[in-house]
Amino acid sequence: MINPYVTGFPADPESFAGRERELGEIKKAIDYTVHSEPATPQNVAIVGDWGIGKTSLLNKCKAIALDKDCFVCKITLTPEKCKNMDSFVYNTIDELHTAIWEFSHLAASRFIADLTIASEKEKEVLFKMAKLGEEADIKEIEAPNVSVHLKRRVEKNLVVRIDRGRYKFYHPLFRKFLEKII
Ligand SMILES: Nc1ncnc2c1ncn2[C@@H]1O[C@H](COP(=O)(O)OP(=O)(O)OP(=O)(O)O)[C@@H](O)[C@H]1O
Ligand SMILES: [Mg+2]
Repeated sequence: MINPYVTGFPADPESFAGRERELGEIKKAIDYTVHSEPATPQNVAIVGDWGIGKTSLLNKCKAIALDKDCFVCKITLTPEKCKNMDSFVYNTIDELHTAIWEFSHLAASRFIADLTIASEKEKEVLFKMAKLGEEADIKEIEAPNVSVHLKRRVEKNLVVRIDRGRYKFYHPLFRKFLEKII
């Protein structure tokens, strides 16, 4: 078996071990942030002695948040980057810009994969639904066998049923992606 750990480097989130209590608290904070209305961000500080596993835990949190379809931006500060306001602002904006770019590319490749498994008729329903806004009523979608096609997409987790006859996409960016390619 190959040792997944490399001395001097933070653990890969895939090989991350233990820390159940800390992860539980952090997952709670992420879920609260995601589901609060209006959004109420939670703050968590990871503090500890050198080499205790702070960066590994932070990277694991990033992987968990990405799994929950959150936008994640990790901004690393160093004394050099904080030497004055200009370099602090420049570094922060630069890292934010990179994170947005990576997120939109990651999302786009996932959405392309999502679409390739849909049949032509299902795609037609998805495109029409995308034009109707954040939520759509099944009666507004003018296509044959809408309920059958939507049911299949719900089973594949692309579409979420929010109420009787009302649906939305699993991710708001998925709708924007469909709108762009129509
Ligand atoms: N949960 C974990 N599972 C597996 N290995 C871990 C875990 N946490 C830390 N390690 C291992 O311990 C070492 C130190 O971890 P890490 O770099 O995350 O610590 P740190 O607190 O950020 O260190 P520093 O104070 O130097 O920044 C790494 O080699 C990493 O592989
Ligand atoms: Mg560290």
